[in-house]
Amino acid sequence: MPLKKNSKSVKEFYDELSGEYTSLINRCVPRYDELFSTLFFYIPENLKPKKILELGCGTGNLTQKIIEKYPNAEIFLVDISDEIIRQCKKRFIKNKNLNFINADFNDLNFKNEDFALIVSSIAIHHIKNKEKEILFGKVRKWLQKSGVFTYFDQFKGATDEIYKKNIEKWHEEIIKLGSDEKDWKQWMKHQDEHDYHATVAEQIEWLKKAKFKTIDVVWRYLLWTVVYAQK
Ligand SMILES: C[S@@+](CC[C@H](N)C(=O)[O-])C[C@H]1O[C@@H](n2cnc3c(N)ncnc32)[C@H](O)[C@@H]1O
Repeated sequence: MPLKKNSKSVKEFYDELSGEYTSLINRCVPRYDELFSTLFFYIPENLKPKKILELGCGTGNLTQKIIEKYPNAEIFLVDISDEIIRQCKKRFIKNKNLNFINADFNDLNFKNEDFALIVSSIAIHHIKNKEKEILFGKVRKWLQKSGVFTYFDQFKGATDEIYKKNIEKWHEEIIKLGSDEKDWKQWMKHQDEHDYHATVAEQIEWLKKAKFKTIDVVWRYLLWTVVYAQK
């Protein structure tokens, strides 16, 4: 979807939202905690990653869980918003294992086979579908042999009808989580301007093209889907 006239870029949107982001996301994403626990549940216990890459760290909600699970790993955190990175740095001020990279996913370049684990939460849908396909190819290259790429994100439904039902139900759910109609309108405006949801089938296809050995959708509820891929 092209950016509408006068609308903010995704960077400007998150720069502006950075201070209230953590509280907003918690009242706007149903079963947010379950998404994190599912993501970690499927990572093999014998992986023991020394170097981890996180795509789209935001204020550090997934980062927090990575640190808890892998306290000695070196973690590379990427985000396009310098303001949100500032918040994230503040949150983990004492942690010496974090390296922040203020960049667009599309401009990233790492050494081949550099990471044992690459993760992301609710961020990849901000790039266009062709860009996602390219990113998945790069991610596989950056992973060591048997390395894992696992992420959760907002996905489109397989049909417009399913997608519409998922969005209607999401509206009901966020009100139960304590959001109001102002939050919902803001979220829908943001979705119109900055989101490129893709279907499960599309994302699986791009991961297959990237030549991941194992690919699975391990969890799904409405738009939220957890994907697991291993090199
Ligand atoms: C919805 S937030 C998710 C943050 C965090 N992972 C979480 O679960 O709370 C999406 C994040 O992706 C970042 N982002 C969006 N598009 C990006 C891009 N093209 N390159 C790098 N970061 C991007 C935004 O700045 C934002 O911090």
